[in-house]
Amino acid sequence: MSFLNQDRKVPEEPSAADVATGARLIPRITIQAFCEHSQTAQLIESAIHDRRMSKVALTTHNGGLEGAIETYRSNPTPNLILVETSAAPADIPNQLERLAEVCDAATRLIVLGHVTDVLLYRELIRSGVSEYLVLPVGPKAIVEAISELFVAEGAAPIGRTIGFIGAKGGAGSSTVAHNVAWAISQTLRQDVLILDMDLPFGTAGLNFNQDPPHGLADAVMANQKMDQTMLDRLMSKAANHLNLLTAPVTLDRTFDLGEREFEQIVELSQSLTPIVVLDIPHQWNGWVKHTLAAIDEIVIVAEPDLANLRNAKNIADTVKSMRPTEAKPSLVISQQGMPRRPEISADEFASSVECKLIGQVPFDAQLFGTAANNGQMIAEVAANNKINEVFRAVGMHVTGRAAPDAAGRGTSLKLPSFLKVRRRA
Ligand SMILES: Nc1ncnc2c1ncn2[C@@H]1O[C@H](COP(=O)(O)OP(=O)(O)O)[C@@H](O)[C@H]1O
Ligand SMILES: [Mg+2]
Repeated sequence: MSFLNQDRKVPEEPSAADVATGARLIPRITIQAFCEHSQTAQLIESAIHDRRMSKVALTTHNGGLEGAIETYRSNPTPNLILVETSAAPADIPNQLERLAEVCDAATRLIVLGHVTDVLLYRELIRSGVSEYLVLPVGPKAIVEAISELFVAEGAAPIGRTIGFIGAKGGAGSSTVAHNVAWAISQTLRQDVLILDMDLPFGTAGLNFNQDPPHGLADAVMANQKMDQTMLDRLMSKAANHLNLLTAPVTLDRTFDLGEREFEQIVELSQSLTPIVVLDIPHQWNGWVKHTLAAIDEIVIVAEPDLANLRNAKNIADTVKSMRPTEAKPSLVISQQGMPRRPEISADEFASSVECKLIGQVPFDAQLFGTAANNGQMIAEVAANNKINEVFRAVGMHVTGRAAPDAAGRGTSLKLPSFLKVRRRA
C-alpha cells in the first residue's frame, strides 16, 4: 500500500482551461466503484466533487473485483463500473471474464490496477475494458477517463430511446409508458427521462403529480439555443432516477410542429440520460412519423378490440417498412379483461399485427383510477400487485434485458463488450 500515499483528499476543481472551453458535464449515469483500499475509495469519492461529475450517481463499495462479481450476481449493473484490483497481471483477465458473465451488455468497465504492464494493458483494452489506470492517480485522471468515455467527441450517445404509442386514443399508452419508465428507473437504478410529447393534452404531469413549467414545449421552442443547462432547468424530478419533460397542456396556442422539431431535444436527451421514454400521442403527422423512424424501440399499446387491431396493424406495417433493418415494434395489450366486453385474444391479436407481445395489462378500474387520481404510479398505490411485474418485464425487454430475473437482468444476454471481444480474439 506504500504507493497509495499521495494526497488525494483535496477535490480537484476543473482547470481554467476546462471552464473556458465549457468542459461538458458527464451525463446522468450511474457509476459503482469496488475498491480494495480505503484510499482508493476516498480518491473516487473526491472525484465526485469535480464540476463535470455533478449529474453522476456514484457509490463506492468494498471488496474489489471479487466484491463486484458477488454483487452483480444478484443486482443490476450500472452504466459504468470502476474496479480496483491488486491481483497478479496474469490473473486479471480471468477474473474480469467472471465479472463480465454477470454484467449487462451495455455496462462499461474501468480497471484500477497497481502494476504498470503494457501487455496487460493491451490485452484489457483489446478485450473491451474501457480504460486501465495505474494507481496512484489523482481524482482528475479518474474524471478524465470517465469524460473520455461518455462525452468525448464521437462518444456513442448513451441513451436508449423507447417510444410508446397507442393504437387508439385512451388505449392506455401513457399509463403504460409512465409505469414502465418508473419500473426501469427503480429496477435498474439508472436515470430515465420521460418526454411527454402530447403538448396540448399530455398526462405525465398529472400522473406524477407534478405541476412544473412548460418543460418540453419550452425545450422545443428554444430550438438551437437548447443546451444541457437549460434542459436541466426544464426537467422536473418525479422520483429518484426519474425525470420528466412535461407538456404545457395549454390551448392558448396550437402546436403545429414541423417534422424535425423534436429531433434536437430527443438527441440532447439521449446524450444526457441513459434511458429516454417518449410518450407519443395517438396522432399521425410528420413529426410522429419521423420520431417513430428515428428511435431505438417502439411499443404499440392497444386494447383488444377490432379498431385497435386495425390501427395497430397499420402502425406496425408502416414502422416496419420505414425501418426494415431495425427491431420490429413490440406490442402491449392494455385494459385486458374489461367486464362484459368481447375481446380478441392477445395471441391472436399479436399474430395478426405480427408484433412480439411483450406485456398484457389487465383492466382494473379501481386500481388505475386511484393511481390516476392520486398522481401516483401503480407500484406506489399497490406495491405487491402482479401488474407491476408486467411493467417490469416490459421495461426489461425494451432496455435489452430479455426475460428478467430478480435482479432485472436477462438470462439470454448479449455478452458485455469487455468479454465479447476477448472471446473473439
Ligand atoms: N389497465 C387499465 N385499467 C383500467 N383503466 C386504465 C388502464 N390503463 C389505463 N387506464 C385508464 O384509461 C385512461 C386512458 O389512459 P391513457 O394512458 O391516458 O391513454 P392514452 O395515453 O393511450 O390516450 C386513463 O384514465 C387511465 O387511467
Ligand atoms: Mg396519452
